Order: sequence, then structure tokens, then C-alpha cells
Amino acid sequence: MERGQFSSRAGFIMAAAGAAVGLGNVWGFPTQVASNGGGAFVLVYLLLAFCLAYPALMAELIVGRHARANAVIALPMLSDKPTLKLGGKVVGIAGLITVAVILSFYAIIAGWLFAFAIEPIVSFLGFTDAANWLTQFSLSRNIIFTLCFMILTILIIGAGVNQGIERWSKRMMPALVLILIALIGYMLTLPNAMVGLSHYLTPDFSQIFDGQLIISAMGQAFFSLSLGVGCMLIYGSYLSSNENIVKAGAWVTLLDVGLAFVAGLLIIPSMYIAAHFGVEIFDADGALLNSDTLIFTILPALFEQMGAAGPIVALAFFILMSLAALTSSISLLEVPVAYVVEAHKKPRALTSWIIGALVTALSLTIVFNFSWLFGLVITVTTKYSQPILGLFFCLYAGWVWHRNGALAEIKKGYQGAENGLFWKVWPWYVKFVCPLFIIVMFVHAL
Ligand code: TRP
Repeated sequence: MERGQFSSRAGFIMAAAGAAVGLGNVWGFPTQVASNGGGAFVLVYLLLAFCLAYPALMAELIVGRHARANAVIALPMLSDKPTLKLGGKVVGIAGLITVAVILSFYAIIAGWLFAFAIEPIVSFLGFTDAANWLTQFSLSRNIIFTLCFMILTILIIGAGVNQGIERWSKRMMPALVLILIALIGYMLTLPNAMVGLSHYLTPDFSQIFDGQLIISAMGQAFFSLSLGVGCMLIYGSYLSSNENIVKAGAWVTLLDVGLAFVAGLLIIPSMYIAAHFGVEIFDADGALLNSDTLIFTILPALFEQMGAAGPIVALAFFILMSLAALTSSISLLEVPVAYVVEAHKKPRALTSWIIGALVTALSLTIVFNFSWLFGLVITVTTKYSQPILGLFFCLYAGWVWHRNGALAEIKKGYQGAENGLFWKVWPWYVKFVCPLFIIVMFVHAL
């Protein structure tokens, strides 16, 4: 079977940046900023993203393009030793399971965003009851919108690498950026926005070495760059050998980090604008409220205060969130689908529906046991699974794989790579710095 490949560097960058830019950027990052002391978190995050997450991202991209296969096949290819081959396979499979669980909770949140995006229209048409149903937490709403979101994800992945992932990422990403910029432009003209902006941009240096803050920032960086589950590995495997992979990866990192930063410019000032309109934004301890309260209570309350502009801003805002979610969810579904298609030679469209159905079943299990299961699966996958697996990806790229193999792969699209800065730093970086850093963080967290 002919293997899919992105048609150009731009196609790859849009797709991979689409995978990276998601709820982690437009929701997770601003939320973490709000609960971790504003600018201090921003600063630590920027450092970790470029110094830790970028090298780890490159490890996945390079291994993926070298192997031209999913992680379950790619990692064992890096060694001749049976135990290491088996270990690679185990890591790959653990990644598949993790990614399926991440998609199962991601689809629930994305479903809420869909519902909130439709609400202004339904409300405008005069269906007040329906509009209330859309924005209120209920079993029926959660089920229906999780299903809607999963079906869209399945349809795009079923259409393939070019006709599905690349095509839709190229459409959705520019739309996302435009909406984001337009919203910021408008919001920053509102009262109290500048107070929020200064909270966002002024780091409180006393908090920078706070262990909990650093751990949160690392987890956030890993989630945002989609590391540790073979997701970027599979996107790397669709990148043409003629492309400079070092540059392509740098672009993806820049876009991901940049868009998280820009999303913060929208969300944090919006909270302060909401405060100006009388919406409660601080909890009993005087800390900024966060997580789902921020997106699903504070901002809707703000939109309601904005008069005629309110529904339009709400519509734009939740469409923005939904687009971000969809370009990421397709990358999540792609991981297990690519595995089944490649390892078991099954047709893509059918595989997408079957795996999508399994993930949906998992989502519905969470929906029915929401109170205890939702938070649990998020913690287990993003706080534990992802960093541990990310560690193994670095160990395989840095220790198991021969250096020359990695250099040869990079040189395919970048002559003279051995003399460049990247090659001077990266090999020992994935070998020592990334694993050590992840282990230290982890021990510290426990
Ligand atoms: N990075 C995406 C976000 O910020 C989510 C995501 C996509 C992801 N693919 C992933 C997270 C793989 C972990 C692993 O929302």
C-alpha cells in the first residue's frame, strides 16, 4: 500500500502545528498562567518549551521519518537486540493506549465547546430552552456532542493523510489565527484589559523556582507539543526526506508556543474585563479562578454583559476553541489508526470508524462516571503516562539508536547538518539533559 506523505513543508507545518495547537494552548496554558502566578509561569514555560520540549519533539520527528512507520514498528527498528526491540514495542503500544484515553476525554471537552459555539445561533433564532440545554451540564448534552465531535474527527482521519489531515489543517489553522487576532484586537479595547495584560506579562520572580510551578510547566509543554505517545513520530513519518527537518520542527515549536502565548493575551485580559463587569474572578483565597470555570462560566458571563457584540464575540470565541480542538483530535486518532493500517494492512476508512467507535465507547464510559473518572484519566495520562513515555522516546533516540543513524536521517534534507548548531547540541541533549530533567521533575513531583 502507498504510504501517505504531506505534499509540502507548509503542509507538514500546518498539520503538525495543528496537532500541537489545541485545548492545551487556548485553554490549558492560560488556565495554568491564571493559577500559577501570571508572568512567572509564562517565563518558565517558554524556557522549558524551547530547551526541553523542542529536543524531545525532534527525537520523535527524526525517528518517525527514519522509520517511515508508527511508533510500534519504529522504536524496535532502532536496535538489533531482542530485549530492546521488545521494549520499543511495549513503549509504542503504551503510547497507543495513552493516546486513545487522551482522545476520549478530549472529545468530551471539545463537545462542550461545540455546544457553546452553537448556542449564540440557537439563542438568536429564539429557541431559549434549547440554548439553555446547550450550555448546561447534562448527560444528554454531553453524550450528543461527544458523538458529534468524534464523528467529525473520524471523517477527517478516514479521508487520509493528504485529503484529510493536511487539507483540513490547512483550512482550519489560518482561520484559527485570524479569529484569535481579531478577538484580541477587540478585547484589548475594553475597560480593565490593561490590568490583566500587566498581570500576564509581569513575572513575579519569587515564584520562578517553585517546584510545583516548574512541574506544571513541564507537563503543559509535553501535552502542548503532543509528546510521548508517538503522535509527532507519525507526523514525522509523513514528512518528505527533502525537507530540512530541524527547521520544520523549529517552526512547529515556534507556532505552538507562540499561539499559546497569544491565546494568553486574549484569555487573561478577558478575565479582568469580566471583573470590571462585575463577574467574580477570584476565589475565597484571592487567587484567580480557573479551569472550567474560566471558559464555561466567566467568559460566557462576560459575553452576556457585552450587549449586541456579546453573541458575535461568543460565537467567534467558541468556534476558535472548536477549531483548535479538531486539528488536535485528528492527530490523536491518527496514532492508533496508522498502527492498525500499517501493522495489520487494514483499509483506512473502516479502521477509522472502528477505532473511533472504541474511543467513543471509552468517552461515554467517562461521561456516565464523570464525577470520579474524568479527572482521574486526565491525571493518569497527562501527568504520568506522557512524561514517562516521553522519557523512553528520548532514551531510544539518544542511547539505543546509533548517532550516525540520526545524523544520516537529518542530512537527507539538510546538507552540512553535522556542522550546524543543532547537531552540536541535540545528540547529548536528548541523551542526558532531557532524560535527567524528566526524571528529576518526576521524583520531585512524587
Ligand atoms: N497538543 C494538543 C493540545 O495542546 C493535544 C494533543 C494532540 C496531544 N495530540 C496529542 C496531547 C498527543 C498529547 C499527546 O491540545
